[in-house]
Amino acid sequence: MDRVRFSVVGYGNIGSRHVHFLKQLPGAELVSVCDIKADRAEAGALEGNCRAATLFEEVLKDPSVDVVDICTPSGLHASMSVKAMKAGKHAISEKPMALSLKDADEVLKVQKKTDKRYFLVKQNRYNPPVAALRKVVEDGSLGKVLIISSNVFWNRRRGYYEEEPWRGTLSLDGGALFTQSSHFIDLLLWLGGRPLSVESYMANLSHEYTETEDTGSVRVELEGGGLAVMNYTTSTYQSNLEGSITVLGTKGTVKVGGKYLNELVEWNVEGVPRPDLPPGGPPNTYKGGYQGSMSNHDKVLQNVIDVLNEGKQAAVSLEEGRLTVEVMQAAHISALEGKKVVLPLKGKHLRFDLSKALPFPSRERGK
Ligand SMILES: NC(=O)c1ccc[n+]([C@@H]2O[C@H](COP(=O)([O-])OP(=O)(O)OC[C@H]3O[C@@H](n4cnc5c(N)ncnc54)[C@H](O)[C@@H]3O)[C@@H](O)[C@H]2O)c1
Repeated sequence: MDRVRFSVVGYGNIGSRHVHFLKQLPGAELVSVCDIKADRAEAGALEGNCRAATLFEEVLKDPSVDVVDICTPSGLHASMSVKAMKAGKHAISEKPMALSLKDADEVLKVQKKTDKRYFLVKQNRYNPPVAALRKVVEDGSLGKVLIISSNVFWNRRRGYYEEEPWRGTLSLDGGALFTQSSHFIDLLLWLGGRPLSVESYMANLSHEYTETEDTGSVRVELEGGGLAVMNYTTSTYQSNLEGSITVLGTKGTVKVGGKYLNELVEWNVEGVPRPDLPPGGPPNTYKGGYQGSMSNHDKVLQNVIDVLNEGKQAAVSLEEGRLTVEVMQAAHISALEGKKVVLPLKGKHLRFDLSKALPFPSRERGK
């Protein structure tokens, strides 16, 4: 079977993890590493034993690249995915898919038109306790889902935001919901099903030097009658505290917790014994010492190879990626308008542009 040829674009914190795993996967060949910063492109090429590029266009024109692996700032994901597919490449994008529904829809449109494959990184779905939870929701063992509750209590210090100019901006980062918590919204929907409406509160409580929110509470009404709630912040004192999801069903209770959805904290499911889980990957550790989600990128990249070589199913569909963006956009609109937002978004809510919204530190509290 042919090896799938990748180019990693953006050799920062997460791009370097992609290079690390692509080097190890027998079904992958790393052709190039691209970064607008020449020293990073070269460091990536050295690490990956491949070519360096400083212009995205070089990657798009390179006939030896099958898959463009997009690891650049969040606000560039959609436009780069679109350019990659238009250039005849498959695309895999780090989360989030886009910072607006308009951009997510463009990705969908271009994917259909070009018939290239589009993949989205949602590696937390592979965490062993998360996969076990999904199984009992999917096969009905947990009964009807009543409440899903998620806490993302992380810490990002000033140094994190100052390290890279895109962080903490509305146009390229989007804030703690889009950049730190989109994995959790993806899981709430993966477990809870179709969302009907969204209500939220957001604030910038301790990062006044950024434009974005650092804290929020999002409530999603689910079609099945249940409720999904997520409280999130990057303002937790000193260090990451918790990344958890609890599901209360009519036939059981499961809590996945730890700091990165890495521990099965509670398992009480009618007729289903607590599973004996394999160990999950460690969290990603980045320069500056901060940590993020569990590192399952090898599984995400292997899925790309399996889809392209063996016709297997993609781990995340485009529609699921779009829905996550829709819920996050609805949360921003709800926080701004101070009321519940009904889904699917329509009219001006469809065209909402977070990058043009009022920066959070300027927003008046209680309005
Ligand atoms: N899946 C996960 O758990 C996970 C973890 C961390 C980050 N991420 C996502 O990955 C993305 C990058 O985050 P990061 O922390 O690695 O950022 P980073 O700033 O460390 O790295 C981004 C890199 O992209 C480069 N870049 C910017 N514009 C470019 C362009 N036009 N062409 C080529 N290179 C360009 C920058 O020079 C930088 O080296 C974010 O969207 C973030 O949400 C995902």
